Amino acid sequence: MKANPSAVFIFPSGEEQVRNADVAHPFRQESNLHYLSGFEEPESVLVLAPSTTQPGSHRFVLFVRRRDPERELWEGARYGVEGACSVFGAHEAFPIDEFDQRLPELLQGAEKVFYRLGRSAKSDERILKALEATRRALGRSGRGLLPIHDPGDPLGEMRLFKGEEEVALLRKASQITALAHKTAMIESRPGMNEFEIEALIDYAFRRNGCQRMGYGSIVAGGKNATCLHYTSNNEPLRDGELLLIDAGGEYGYYTSDISRTFPVGKRFSAPQAALYDLVLRSQKEAIEMSRPGVTLPAIHAHVCEVLVDGLLSLGLLAGQREELIKSGGHRRFFPHNTSHWLGMDVHDVGLYQQNGEPRALEPGMVFTIEPGLYVQPNDSAAPVEYRNIGIRIEDDILITATGCENLTKDAPKERSEIEALKG
Ligand code: GLY
Ligand code: MN
Ligand code: MN
Repeated sequence: MKANPSAVFIFPSGEEQVRNADVAHPFRQESNLHYLSGFEEPESVLVLAPSTTQPGSHRFVLFVRRRDPERELWEGARYGVEGACSVFGAHEAFPIDEFDQRLPELLQGAEKVFYRLGRSAKSDERILKALEATRRALGRSGRGLLPIHDPGDPLGEMRLFKGEEEVALLRKASQITALAHKTAMIESRPGMNEFEIEALIDYAFRRNGCQRMGYGSIVAGGKNATCLHYTSNNEPLRDGELLLIDAGGEYGYYTSDISRTFPVGKRFSAPQAALYDLVLRSQKEAIEMSRPGVTLPAIHAHVCEVLVDGLLSLGLLAGQREELIKSGGHRRFFPHNTSHWLGMDVHDVGLYQQNGEPRALEPGMVFTIEPGLYVQPNDSAAPVEYRNIGIRIEDDILITATGCENLTKDAPKERSEIEALKG
C-alpha cells in the first residue's frame, strides 16, 4: 500500500468445490487473503482501497457471508459483517451479495488495480465488469485507464521474508512433522502397507494440532521411491527395501516439508547405505553452506558436485565431473532441484531471481534442501544392486543473521540413529 498509495487491491477467497450433492471438498482459505487478514471463511473478498478521507492511507474492507441462523445450524457459526470488523479489524465490512454493487465505489479515485486474473472465471467476470463500469464513468476525465497488475509480485516479496510469528508457526509445523517421521521410522515393518504408514503420519499431524497436510504425503516403498511424486501409497512394504516418506503437516497455515528414507526392516543393505551416505553428505554440506549472501543455485551446484563425485566412485557414472554436470548426465539419477521457498504454500511464493540474477539469501527466508538419488528399475546401464533404490533427504532451513537454523533437525537422518530406532 505504501508503494502504491492510489491502488486498489482485491483478494477473493477460493471457492468451495462441490464433491457431490451437498458435500464439499475441505475448504482452505487462499493464502494471500489469509496472510493479509486471517479470515478463513469462503465466499469472501478482501479489498484495500485508498481512503477518501485520509489521503495516503487505505481502507481495509471485507466482504463476507451474511449471518444466517438456518445455514449456521447446519454449517457452523459465521462471523458476519460485525465479526469481520470486531474480530479481524476491518474498517468496514459488507455482505458478499453487495460486492458487485459496492466495488465501483471502492474503485473511485484509484489509478491501478491489483488483482490476480485467471484463477476463477466467475470472479474475473465480476471484477472486469466493475472495472469497465468505472472506466466508462471516468470518461474523458483525462485520468488513466485503471490498469490491472498482479498482486503476486508484491505479496510474494512480503511472504518470502518470514516474521517472528511466521517462524514460530513453521517451527511448530516442523516439530510435529519431525515427530511424525520418527513415529513412521519406529512403527514401519515388513508386511505393513504404505497406507498404514500414511495414516500414522496423518494421525501424528492431526493429534498434535496440524489442521491438514501441506501437500499429499508420499509414502513410497522400494521401487515406488524412484517415482518422484508417487502418491498412490497402497502397496505392501517388503523387508530389504527402503521406505521414502515426503510429508509435511500444516500448522496455522504454514507447512513443513520433510523427506526421510529408511529401511522397512532393521538395517540398510550395503548398496542402500552407499547411496544414502552420499545423499546425506551432499545434504549436510548444503546446509553448512546456507547463510546470508549465498544463492540457491550455488547450493544446488555444490550438491551436484558431491553427488557426481560419489556416483563416479560407485561406478554409476563414468567420465569427467565437469562434463557430466555441464551435459546434465547426473540428471539420470538426480532429476530435480535442491531447493524451493517454503511457507504458507509448500512451493512458496517469491521470486528466485532479481534483475536476471539469482537472488542472495537473506535473514528470514525459508527454503528446503532436498537432494536425492533415484536409480530407475529399467536403468539397465546401472549396476543391478543399485536399481529400484530411491532416496531423498529433505530439511527446512531458515536463514538467520549469521547462518541458518535447521527447523526440521528433530527428524533423525543419521544412519546409526535410524538403525537404533529400528531396534
Ligand atoms: N513435497 C514436495 C517437495 O518436496 O517439493
Ligand atoms: Mn520440498
Ligand atoms: Mn518434500
